[in-house]
Amino acid sequence: MQRNGLLLPLMALALAALLAGVLAWDFRRAWEEKQAKLAAIAPATLDGKIAEGEYLSSYHDEATGMDIYWTIIGEEIYLALRCPSKGWASIGIGGGPMMKDSDIIIVYIDDEGVHFRDSFGTNMVKHAPDVELGGRDDVLDLAGSEGEEGMMIELRRKLETGDPYDQPILPGKLRIILAHAAADDFVSYHTSRSVVMLDLFEEGR
Ligand code: HEM
Repeated sequence: MQRNGLLLPLMALALAALLAGVLAWDFRRAWEEKQAKLAAIAPATLDGKIAEGEYLSSYHDEATGMDIYWTIIGEEIYLALRCPSKGWASIGIGGGPMMKDSDIIIVYIDDEGVHFRDSFGTNMVKHAPDVELGGRDDVLDLAGSEGEEGMMIELRRKLETGDPYDQPILPGKLRIILAHAAADDFVSYHTSRSVVMLDLFEEGR
């Protein structure tokens, strides 16, 4: 009677220990797999040319004809744009409606080189450089090139810059705005623009 009374709790304990062991093993295996995957991700080479397979994820936007490419490594994002026009090209993160509160990076390339502004949507139809608003330029590296088929831009920035005139890049659907124009400046009205919702933490092409 006494022995039977102990048997059940002992069996339950043994089962719990077995279960904990299996879970720990499973957790460790998943962690090791994730570490191996992270170690295998190569950062993009920011040379202004988007090579096949250089980025983990990409999205083609029908409305503007623009492509976005990106890879997140640690606390940084490598972001690239392919744009059919040869004037300015731009991507905005977060904010809305329209351009308000969007964290806008706008780039054009001319004979003097690549020009860019880390900007912010000050109202629905206007933007201004972060530095003029009291913020910072938070693009860490940037390169671009222009050819017959349009332009390519590659850049690197922190996911969360801490600048109030930037938007944090967090997991979950993020409002992304895209636009381009034919003029090499920061002020001409776009010839094409679009709004899409993307989760930049989701990998895929
Ligand atoms: C350079 C000077 C710019 C001017 C003068 C300008 C002006 C305007 C105006 C007047 C509108 C409302 C009319 C419309 O829908 O077309 C608009 C909307 C819009 N702009 Fe701009 N814009 C500029 C730059 C940019 C930039 C850099 C972006 C970055 C991606 C952008 C993205 C958009 C988008 C996505 C909309 C439509 C938003 C929606 O439908 O919700 N714009 N802009």
